[in-house]
Amino acid sequence: MKPVRIGVLGLGTVGAGAVNVLQRNAAEIARRAGREIIVTRASARDLQRQRNCDTQDIELTTDPCQIIADPKIDIILELIGGDTLARDLVLQAVANGKHVVTANKALIALHGNEIFDKASAAGVMIAFEAAVAGGIPIIKALREGLSGNQIEWLAGIINGTGNFILTEMRDKGRDFADVLAEAQELGYAEADPTFDVQGIDAGHKLTILASIAFGIPLQFDKVYTEGITEITRSDVAYAEQLGYRIKHLGIARKTGRGIELRVHPTLIPERRLIANVDGVMNAVLVKGDAVGPTLYYGAGAGADPTASAVVADVIDVVRVMTSDPENRVPHLAFQPDALADIPVLPMEQVETAYYLRLQAEDKPGVLADITRILADHRISIEAIIQKEPVAGETTLPVIMLTQKTMEREMNAAISKIENLATITGKVTRIRVETLG
Ligand code: HSE
Repeated sequence: MKPVRIGVLGLGTVGAGAVNVLQRNAAEIARRAGREIIVTRASARDLQRQRNCDTQDIELTTDPCQIIADPKIDIILELIGGDTLARDLVLQAVANGKHVVTANKALIALHGNEIFDKASAAGVMIAFEAAVAGGIPIIKALREGLSGNQIEWLAGIINGTGNFILTEMRDKGRDFADVLAEAQELGYAEADPTFDVQGIDAGHKLTILASIAFGIPLQFDKVYTEGITEITRSDVAYAEQLGYRIKHLGIARKTGRGIELRVHPTLIPERRLIANVDGVMNAVLVKGDAVGPTLYYGAGAGADPTASAVVADVIDVVRVMTSDPENRVPHLAFQPDALADIPVLPMEQVETAYYLRLQAEDKPGVLADITRILADHRISIEAIIQKEPVAGETTLPVIMLTQKTMEREMNAAISKIENLATITGKVTRIRVETLG
């Protein structure tokens, strides 16, 4: 049978990684796919730059449009990232009847609804396993392996850079900026690393996971995102004293009132497996009604792990290229005309428990004032730690764990606590999930 010809757009970390894996494992891949798969063309912005892959048998160009227009190319790998040029190129590839494999979470989270509609109409596939959690086959697990379940919730460490930073800060006391620079050198971070540390990248990935889990359209604009930049080493240490680890989680939960979609630093009991996922590793915990809790773990970023997911998608596309489009696995797991319009809840209506850290004056009645405010908002306290004041200081840190409450009640209570004359500065709030 004729080989399948691949055109690669972008030869950065992921593009070079995909070329390497396709070449290195070519024989094994052909045995799996039933056909030889070869990269014949690739585009890159700067052809003079040193590449981390062998391009001697690949025709290179700076113009990705040439590859998309080439009738000899069967599958396009979109590995340039971003959501403007990438969107135009993918839509054009679809219009030209080409299947597309992409690692681009921003593209799918922001424009996936439009792209899938057009791809379905054109009878081509868009595969995006590498867009979420690097090498972990979480899209396949949710879309196919768990398709008999009602998914109740999922929670994941889905940004490798952020997890790498938190781990290095905790274990080695390293400085935030220094670890971020290393994550950039290792090719983990996004082109704009604020996407990693502000929770935007995790928000893109959570959007995709939630759509596949619950059968809802992609809605990145409804995701609440909070980053890791405000986490201090003292919060990490207090959390440990209370038996918790701080992780940057993406959480999607179906409730009777709607769907919670949120990304934020979270205290997790340290006995949970996911609390012990460190470095650039990712993990996604999925709770299905039939299977119960399941956990998926692996490298969340980096050239080879991401290429592993890209190449698996290429093989999948090759296997089903000739099958009737109606009988393929739907892009978002559910049939396109069966997507649900369950509302995504505003953050104010989310229910969770909280860790609070505040700086209080060391005098009688201060704790009573704080607990009265919490009681007025029907917020129960689970634990309190009051530290000794540092010599020469008149204030001391108070750390509290609360039981579950509505975010709206906690917002109101925090603003009243911050207005107390005996409280200095802002209250630090980190959400707590038991993930039981
Ligand atoms: N910047 C991303 C991360 C790359 O660190 O997880 C993988 O999507």
